[in-house]
Amino acid sequence: MPTLNKCRIIDLPIIPDHRGNLTFIEGGIHVPFDIKRVYYLYDVPGGAERGGHAHNELQQLIIAMSGSFDVVLDDGIRKKRIHLNRSYQGLYLPRMIWRELDNFSSGSVCMVLASQKYSENDYIRNYADFEELKK
Ligand code: TYD
Repeated sequence: MPTLNKCRIIDLPIIPDHRGNLTFIEGGIHVPFDIKRVYYLYDVPGGAERGGHAHNELQQLIIAMSGSFDVVLDDGIRKKRIHLNRSYQGLYLPRMIWRELDNFSSGSVCMVLASQKYSENDYIRNYADFEELKK
């Protein structure tokens, strides 16, 4: 069962250029899964919280494309708050990690690369259920 040790910041390639920097991501190379879905959070009002769930199988890479926000990770034993504010860094989350997102800066954009298409069946939305499954 994955623990917080498996969550890590992935430094993405940067092609620096006086016309502006370029970063790219290839599934299976820069992220340890094939990318099946991309979604993003934007126009997040001040004080809002997102997430508040875990996934049975889904792996994700979370990137602050613009601005900043925090991701609070929880493996059922330990908790860790990670601040994301670089568009060339992604936070890799394996399956079965509870996550909450908060502290969104004004105008921030959170992009998520996901290993599976959307499936509500893959969500664990109740923390007590998550704790039980972690045992
Ligand atoms: P949810 O994953 O709960 O949002 P967050 O974790 O960012 O707070 O998703 C919110 C709603 O959007 C939920 O009704 C499911 C829907 N949704 C999709 O239809 N497709 C998707 O790819 C995602 C991520 C969510």
